[in-house]
Amino acid sequence: MKGDSSWFTHDRFGMFIHWGLYALGARHEWLRNYEAISVADYQKYFDHFEPDLYDPEAWADAAVRAGMKYFVITTKHHEGFCLWDTKYTDYKAPKTPLCGKDLLTPMVEAFRSRGIKVGFYHSLLDWHHPDYTLDRCHPMRKNKEYLKGESKKDMARYRKYLYGQVEELMTQFGKVDIIWFDFSFQPADGLKGKGKDDWGSEKLIKMVRNYQPDIIINDRLQIPQDIFTPEQSQPAEWYKVDGKRVTWESCHTFSGSWGYHRDEQSWKSTELCTKLLIDTVSKGGNLILNVGPTARGEFDFRALDRLNGIGEWMKRHSRSIYGCTEAPKEFNCPPDCRYTYNPKTNRLYLHFFSWPYKHVYLDFGDRVEYAQLLNDASEIKIEKKASWGININLTKKQVCLLIPDLKPSVEVPVVEIFLKPRRN
Ligand code: GLC
Repeated sequence: MKGDSSWFTHDRFGMFIHWGLYALGARHEWLRNYEAISVADYQKYFDHFEPDLYDPEAWADAAVRAGMKYFVITTKHHEGFCLWDTKYTDYKAPKTPLCGKDLLTPMVEAFRSRGIKVGFYHSLLDWHHPDYTLDRCHPMRKNKEYLKGESKKDMARYRKYLYGQVEELMTQFGKVDIIWFDFSFQPADGLKGKGKDDWGSEKLIKMVRNYQPDIIINDRLQIPQDIFTPEQSQPAEWYKVDGKRVTWESCHTFSGSWGYHRDEQSWKSTELCTKLLIDTVSKGGNLILNVGPTARGEFDFRALDRLNGIGEWMKRHSRSIYGCTEAPKEFNCPPDCRYTYNPKTNRLYLHFFSWPYKHVYLDFGDRVEYAQLLNDASEIKIEKKASWGININLTKKQVCLLIPDLKPSVEVPVVEIFLKPRRN
């Protein structure tokens, strides 16, 4: 039943892109909901959408520089606006008066030609479609006038639309590696939720797998599939569902909202983003970081700054990310550190979230063959006997890494430890 996630758990790092009409509002992709904006009042964004600086080659280059190996683009977000030339609606980029073209095809081509795997985020919600019924997330849920039309709506017709559009996405863009559906939700405040029966999840999954047998499907159709997607939070350990470890992907924004937000000041630093990536891989997961391009079609300078910064780090440290996972429990982790481990090369990566003072003790001295800083391959000396200070004794199994006083000038320094094969 399941798709091929072997490349996914190797590659570890992806780019999310949220791009739609909300980029013009520039104050959150949920603005229709937050401000109870009607379809008619939202039309101004459709009429004025003019992404004249859109350059998907530049977007793909930015992803490559950051070390990202896959991307997931919003083909349609909750607002209902479509980036591709779908035959099922005119609410699409090719029909906007000022843009007038398919934005998805050139994007897919640009990323794919650089070896980046292709993913589509597709919103199950649709606040524009006339048959999409009211629920607790709907922007018009408190609008008495709007509610009068409710009885004429037909979710079965909406399901057909959803199915038809996903079919287009699965058949018109070559190999699609990920489909990221969003989302199912419980009822609240006396208003309805929506889930697998509303979306026709089972039928959707079947169709998607039929056209794209290797595809990875996420967990938000209310029928769990290949990956689980905790959002804007880090689990304390390897993500578990029903007590079992699962394949998981953590998704984070740079500044809070997913769509372009002009005024948000809560941007994560490059250091924090780098630590998020490390922390995720140290718990066996993937990280997908989101960019919300502007309505003119550019990556915001703050996003580029973070992407380039992470790329600088990745240039010298991607060995501790690609092909890596959680380290076996037998390796004690020093304070303020994260391990990742590459089972193929049998190397252990010690990431310092704060720079230690000179001495780092490891309890598995019998397993350590060699150690070096990863950024410049400079040796880290390994002491088997305490040759410094008084009252320090190493146990038989312990060794001490002699860390230089000066922190290397990289966001997060890493010591690469070559392990001896385990003796059985
Ligand atoms: C949420 C939001 C949304 C965003 C998504 C990404 O469910 O609805 O705006 O696209 O998370 O995970």
